[in-house]
Amino acid sequence: MSIRDIVTVPNEILKKISEPIEKVGINEKKLINDLFETMYNSKGIGLAAVQVGILKRILVIDVSTKDEKKNPLSFINPTIKKVSDKTSIYEEGCLSIPQTFIEIERPKICEIEYIDIDGKKRDLKCDGLLSTCIQHEINHLDGKLIIDHLSKLKKDMIIKKISKSKKNPERILV
Ligand code: NI
Repeated sequence: MSIRDIVTVPNEILKKISEPIEKVGINEKKLINDLFETMYNSKGIGLAAVQVGILKRILVIDVSTKDEKKNPLSFINPTIKKVSDKTSIYEEGCLSIPQTFIEIERPKICEIEYIDIDGKKRDLKCDGLLSTCIQHEINHLDGKLIIDHLSKLKKDMIIKKISKSKKNPERILV
């Protein structure tokens, strides 16, 4: 297992559509393990393969709280089959967009179909935080980010700020 570098905005790969997996093999299993390690290391609750620069429809999630046992969930080729009319709002952050939180309204419940790590087809009804997290991650697989919910002006401002902070060398006092 290894921790991979997380791709941050502005990077064109984050806008690309990820490719479906045809067969779950050793490479996919290794990637899933790396995604979990990278996600836990960054204190995230979800991570899509594209965020480590790999355009495959794979994502991992763990929405367990600090006091609970870890609950790692991995999803291959996830698709949303049904959503509720009822919505919920969370303030969402993204490991690919540092220091940015945006209130986003999404369907409260979603039903998804996916393939598990053993290659079996499964379905799952998701509610609350898990539902929001899955929708956020599936958006990644389709090249969509939380800043796409904002106006172009606001979006450009955030990207500019992040690019600037990337270029700034680390400040030290010696
Ligand atoms: Ni994200």
